[in-house]
Amino acid sequence: MSQAVDEIKIGGLGASRKRVEDSRFIRGKGNYTDDIVLPGMLHMEILRSPLAHARIRSIDASKAWDIPGVQLVLTGDMMATRNLAWMPTLSYDTQAVLATDKVRFQGQEVACVIADDPYIAKDACEAIVVDYEPLPAIVNPIQAVADGAPVIRDDKENQPDNVIYNWEVGDSAGTDRAFADADLVSKLQLHYPRSHPSPIECCGSIADFNRATSKLTVYMTTQAPHIIRAAVAMVAELPEHMIRIISPDIGGGFGNKVPVYPGYVCSILASILLERPVKWIEDKSGNLISTGFARDIYLDGEVALRRDGKILGVRMHCDADHGAFFSDAQPSKFKIGLLHSAFAAYDIPAAHLTARGTYSNKAPGGVAYRCSFRVTEAMFFQERMIQAAADDLGMDQADFRRMNFVRDDQFPHRTPFGFLTDSGQYAKCLDVGLKAIDYEAFRREQAEARARGRLLGLGISTMTEPLGAGNSREYDILGIKMFDSADLKVHMTGKAIVRTGAKTQGQGHETTWAQIVAHELGIPAEDVVVEEGDTDTAPFGMGTYASRSTPVAGAAVAMVSRKIRAKCRKLAAHLLEVSEEDVEWELGRFYVRSAPDRGVTIQECAVAAYSNMPDGMEPGLENTAYYDPPNLTWPFAVYIVTVEVDPKSGVWDVLKMVAVDDCGVRINPMIVEGQIMGGLTEAYAMSNMQFITFDADGNCVGANYMDYLLPTAWETPGFELHSEVVTPCPHHPIGAKGIGECAAVGGPAAFVNAVMDALSGTGVRNIDMPLLPDRVWEAITYRRDVSGAPPVRSDD
Ligand code: CDP
Repeated sequence: MSQAVDEIKIGGLGASRKRVEDSRFIRGKGNYTDDIVLPGMLHMEILRSPLAHARIRSIDASKAWDIPGVQLVLTGDMMATRNLAWMPTLSYDTQAVLATDKVRFQGQEVACVIADDPYIAKDACEAIVVDYEPLPAIVNPIQAVADGAPVIRDDKENQPDNVIYNWEVGDSAGTDRAFADADLVSKLQLHYPRSHPSPIECCGSIADFNRATSKLTVYMTTQAPHIIRAAVAMVAELPEHMIRIISPDIGGGFGNKVPVYPGYVCSILASILLERPVKWIEDKSGNLISTGFARDIYLDGEVALRRDGKILGVRMHCDADHGAFFSDAQPSKFKIGLLHSAFAAYDIPAAHLTARGTYSNKAPGGVAYRCSFRVTEAMFFQERMIQAAADDLGMDQADFRRMNFVRDDQFPHRTPFGFLTDSGQYAKCLDVGLKAIDYEAFRREQAEARARGRLLGLGISTMTEPLGAGNSREYDILGIKMFDSADLKVHMTGKAIVRTGAKTQGQGHETTWAQIVAHELGIPAEDVVVEEGDTDTAPFGMGTYASRSTPVAGAAVAMVSRKIRAKCRKLAAHLLEVSEEDVEWELGRFYVRSAPDRGVTIQECAVAAYSNMPDGMEPGLENTAYYDPPNLTWPFAVYIVTVEVDPKSGVWDVLKMVAVDDCGVRINPMIVEGQIMGGLTEAYAMSNMQFITFDADGNCVGANYMDYLLPTAWETPGFELHSEVVTPCPHHPIGAKGIGECAAVGGPAAFVNAVMDALSGTGVRNIDMPLLPDRVWEAITYRRDVSGAPPVRSDD
């Protein structure tokens, strides 16, 4: 007699199942792009510009061609003969593949050498002579719009200046009225500096064009294989069905591996020309200096306040520095990404946001580093403005937030910039966090310490962010609607394979998608294998970024499992010789309603799908689901940090950090905790130690791992995680909300707010990240704000 299975025992929803992918990673058996070696494979290196802005007078590659082992030298002029010197970007702009007329940022791709081995290719790059005529460089938006500023994109028609877009959202007139009625207006200016996703594995590709079959196979480090396939089809003018993109194991993506990079295009063209596989593996300096940067955005923010603490309105103006090419991915409708998700957790009657994007002589920026299209900047600005507003009112930080939160009974709630949030228990999360940090006791301790000259501080960051783009009504990239997909095949033995349009880069999809199948069908998770990243086998999807995998592809896994279950119900009725209406489901088993002992397992149904199906039924047990979510998911989090700042050195230490994350139903609590730990670590690094910027000549300062520090277990503080608040997503099939980026999005403001709180009473309103000791020391010593905006002196 069959019985229902125990969900946790089979590794279903809520099981902290060990990550199955780790068994190959910890054995050193991962299969990364650079591990792949194809017969006859050549190697490509890129020559990059040493200057940020210069006209190219000439390129002489003759000496490179003469080096034995060199097979091909590509320059912009050669690319131009094939209409490939420029390519379209994911934001409706164009980007130079190899520079022809000018170089527009330090590190820009100027030429490529393809040779028998990577060392020959590198030597040959150094033999290429480029004659540059230097031009003045622009490294911030103020310079970009100044009178007489050189026009960076003089390649474009109708581009008389350096402005890419002006964009606005919200209620301008209503916001003006709110400010007219305000008792107090709190103002803050901030710069969220460039930061770099910096995955352990750099970008890379191996293009393999087979003239005999006309098929192009590209192994590459991409988070969005199907989007890349569409882009390659457009750029290289190859038919889509003749292109296969395979994204093998990826050593971290974090948004860095969404854009299309010139290296990919050059390796593809080289393979087509040479009819041999061509491998390009970016080096660390190349990655730090030239691939997708994040952030680099300036805020001018104002909050209109009533004396009792009620927020009446918010005004934000943001200047975004996109670098030389507007090439980061945005949903088409929103030029400044989802920056207008700011203040979604707060009940604010009126708000207005204006944004201006500008070109500069920097590598393309604005990439969403562990972030849904500028949500990180939105939450950082929001929480810094909230802290400043509470301080200006002389109100307690926690009380001010609680007073202005959207209440549990206000959902669904229209945010001041037009999003619809659907669920959350914001005040409860805050209470859990305050209790865990022992708020009142810390405030007493802080006052006592202050009396003895010690600077303690407490920073709160509360946030909700929109995860899981899209729905297709509102979200598309280059006209391709944002939805996702899952394909499930159950074999005759009841074992299964699930494929999705997402692409894991370390998030654990191989583990968690199997758990969703286990939850829906009762097939043990260990009997389900997960495969992603091959466009010839995976269903079409938009890839993994913006924490969209669980909200969209994860939902598709649940939906396709339900389609399989519906077919199995018919098979069960046939096997049990009753009508379908008389069949009931419990996990892993169908049974006859009037005789619960008579049942068949899901595995028995699988056998029947291939060997004993009813007359007229299509054999086999497989299906596909495309999932178009009705809304984004809105997880909520509270991060609270306590710090001590040393006034003599400006060094600050974290005393304690608590994190309360409500991401709805947790598929795998252990993986969720890992995601939060990783995000907090990155938030700590961004706020504390990651310095990468530009001097007045556009030189990238800090493009090395001595300045741009990657956090290790040594300096990273401990984090106390709380999971007691669970508000299921009302529209997701299993109630899950995204989690991957929450802590990296909400975390930075908690650290900065804590340091600023320690400095309260000194008149210092802001220190820009990273809060390096010299910046904190300068603020304390001279009692002034410290800006981190470029240009910096070259010796900083
Ligand atoms: O898109 P990405 O995978 O980066 O982010 P995500 O969808 O938030 O998921 C990150 C990891 O956490 C995946 O392995 C998810 O399945 C897992 N997760 C979970 O177990 N429960 C949730 N409610 C959300 C995510």
